[in-house]
Amino acid sequence: MRGGLAQSPQNYCHTTNTRFLPSGTGYIGSFTALAILEADYKVVIVDNLYNSSEEVLNRIELICGKRPEYYSLDITDEKALDKVFEEHPDIDNVIHFAALKVSSNMSREGRQYGI
Ligand SMILES: NC(=O)c1ccc[n+]([C@@H]2O[C@H](COP(=O)([O-])OP(=O)(O)OC[C@H]3O[C@@H](n4cnc5c(N)ncnc54)[C@H](O)[C@@H]3O)[C@@H](O)[C@H]2O)c1
Repeated sequence: MRGGLAQSPQNYCHTTNTRFLPSGTGYIGSFTALAILEADYKVVIVDNLYNSSEEVLNRIELICGKRPEYYSLDITDEKALDKVFEEHPDIDNVIHFAALKVSSNMSREGRQYGI
């Protein structure tokens, strides 16, 4: 499975407060989302699932009993992002992990990497 939390999780967690916006169900984003949920903040994730899976949301919920809010969208879609912030005026921090990171893909899909 692509994305973070692909391996079997352990367990714990509690309640919620403010919202954060980690941009990703990816490897680092998903572990960050989990840590933030465990610290009793709410989490809103946006990801286009280019390199991850919605299954990550199930894994996060399995680990801590809380499911982050999730929007399937591309972060270059400004209008869609504005809508997320309008729906969540309590977002007070943004942690941005959305990226194309695999260098072996660069020659094949160079335009997406801006080269
Ligand atoms: N994994 C590491 O060990 C590591 C170490 C240092 C730095 N980083 C950096 O941290 C960042 C995240 O790394 P990762 O390992 O979590 O990568 P990842 O590929 O697992 O996660 C990136 C996420 O961004 C999403 N994404 C990509 N383009 C998007 C777009 N336009 N709109 C919405 N979502 C989009 C992908 O679907 C994926 O879920 C990268 O910049 C990477 O270079 C990673």
